[in-house]
Amino acid sequence: MTTMKRKPLVAGNWKMNGDKALVADFINTLDATNAEGVDIVVCPPAVYLAAFGDVNFAIGAQDVSALDNGAHTGDLSVEMLKEVGCKYIIVGHSERREDHGESSEWVAEKAAKVVSGQLTPIICVGEPLEVREAGDDAVQGFIREQLRALTSKLSADELSRSVIAYEPIWAIGTGKTASPEQAQDVHAFIRSELADTDAEMASGMRILYGGSVKPANAQELFGQPDVDGGLIGGASLKTDDFIAICQSAKI
Ligand code: PGA
Repeated sequence: MTTMKRKPLVAGNWKMNGDKALVADFINTLDATNAEGVDIVVCPPAVYLAAFGDVNFAIGAQDVSALDNGAHTGDLSVEMLKEVGCKYIIVGHSERREDHGESSEWVAEKAAKVVSGQLTPIICVGEPLEVREAGDDAVQGFIREQLRALTSKLSADELSRSVIAYEPIWAIGTGKTASPEQAQDVHAFIRSELADTDAEMASGMRILYGGSVKPANAQELFGQPDVDGGLIGGASLKTDDFIAICQSAKI
């Protein structure tokens, strides 16, 4: 349905992993000038963000508060993450939805806050195994609900400054990757749902795939017409693997 050229994005989500040595490894090894044609973002735990300093790839956070600075112990605001150099913020990762009871409405609040701070939210959606096993209609119904929370909170203009990541929960950290066809089907569905809100926004939306992406499967996944890059967990902890995945996304 789309003719617009979208620049691929590869985001590494370290989750609660890594240390100062891994930060140094990335600073010394990852050179985004060798991967022109793809945007690269590394999302370490927030305590390490400032340690990246002046690098030629983007850094991002794994979560953010939907609220302004104030009495919210343990939380981090968009302003703070911006001040330490973040350009992107992941919101609504399934691990946060599960571990912290984040609803789709709350995730939409966070995404809106990130956009209003002039940063780019990477908004995660995706179904659990029992929904996948119930068939394609169930998957589409589940994703549609997650998207509705977004489209009822964010305007088409706000969504056009966002990125969506499709991460089937059954494929995260399990070694079970969605097949390229399964990924393409859901990505095309997401794009068509967004087109109900605004066709131009939908056609420009970067939709990343996440879930056991590795150097060996990245190229085939990224080769699908509606897959615009990836959100990488485990394989983003090794510079060689992450760089190989970034190279696979080059257009
Ligand atoms: P994974 O994680 O690549 O380790 O499956 C992806 C994610 O949760 O972002």
